[in-house]
Amino acid sequence: MTYKIALLPGDGIGPEVTQAAVKVINLVAEKFNVKMKYEEFAIGGNCFDKHGTPLVEETLEGCYNSDSVFLGAVGGPQWEKLAHHLKPEAALLKLREKLELFANIRPAKIYPSMLDNSTLKKEVLEGTDFIVLRELTGGIYFGKPRGMDDNKGWNTMVYSTEEVERIARKAFEIASKREKVVTSVDKANVLEVSQFWRNVVEKVHKDYPEIKLNHMYVDNAAMQLVRDPKQFDVILTSNIFGDIISDISGMITGSLGMLPSASLGKKYSLYEPVHGSAPDIAGQNKANPIAAISSAAMMFFHTFEMTKASEIIEKAISLTLDEGFRTADIATQESKVVSTTEMTSMIMNNIEKIFAEEAIGVFLL
Ligand code: IPM
Ligand code: MN
Repeated sequence: MTYKIALLPGDGIGPEVTQAAVKVINLVAEKFNVKMKYEEFAIGGNCFDKHGTPLVEETLEGCYNSDSVFLGAVGGPQWEKLAHHLKPEAALLKLREKLELFANIRPAKIYPSMLDNSTLKKEVLEGTDFIVLRELTGGIYFGKPRGMDDNKGWNTMVYSTEEVERIARKAFEIASKREKVVTSVDKANVLEVSQFWRNVVEKVHKDYPEIKLNHMYVDNAAMQLVRDPKQFDVILTSNIFGDIISDISGMITGSLGMLPSASLGKKYSLYEPVHGSAPDIAGQNKANPIAAISSAAMMFFHTFEMTKASEIIEKAISLTLDEGFRTADIATQESKVVSTTEMTSMIMNNIEKIFAEEAIGVFLL
């Protein structure tokens, strides 16, 4: 079996963390007898510098012709003043739209040895394990009309039946393999678009009677997330609410540098760390590669359907953290501070170890 992966390293620390992910993907692929073929394409600020636009046709074509896409990060201060459609972030939005990546999965799972890294109390956090499922190609991010003149600015939050149905279905399907609870987050006490969202979610729920469905207003959900994050299993929400809710979730787990994401459509899939391009530490071999490596684990799980490969990567990350190794962003006084490449090697060593122990039957995953 050979898979084709389009690599879009992007800006800042994007290339470093992408390289880390590729190393891990190669190691695991080899163990499972799968071949990976990579092709690299430009995106973001560096693409703008070269071609005058943050996303070129060649990159889109490369994504269409691949089995999956891995993206590092885009953006940086030198491109912040560009017109809206030329900003590196615009490339990301275009990519989501063109590849029809309507389902964005952002897990909020805490590695046991990272419990002290959060600003929240250990007792509040222990046992927290939920995912944010964010609708990614609709809502106010893409709604029309939109614009700005000298006296006003405007955007439109709109959802169609089809758009809500497919993301709701995804939420119930994901929940059926987890704790079977979906919390749909909206603002139905104020917005018609949210009342509509709620109605469609309830209709789709009829097909999934084994799943418990709750509704929660977004302001309350933001509060509940920091009050008692354990209550959540699958949070289903719209594009803009999901953007906000997933950053809150990121902080719950201690560092945005740890969080992976998957963006899935009917045909295509894209994986990227949730963190940004961190231009201040770019090129210094300091970046935390865990979010990227964990995104690679999600790629094995969702696109290649290699559950075991995915579990081994996650287990190796967890073991490495247990051993006290930390990149600078997550270091505490007791930790052994390592570089991007060192952290990657430690994780790879642990992958090797898990395989070796499995071979003699010690480890049961
Ligand atoms: C995210 C980011 C993007 C978004 C930006 C960079 C366009 O914040 O992926 O959460 O708002 O979706
Ligand atoms: Mn965001």
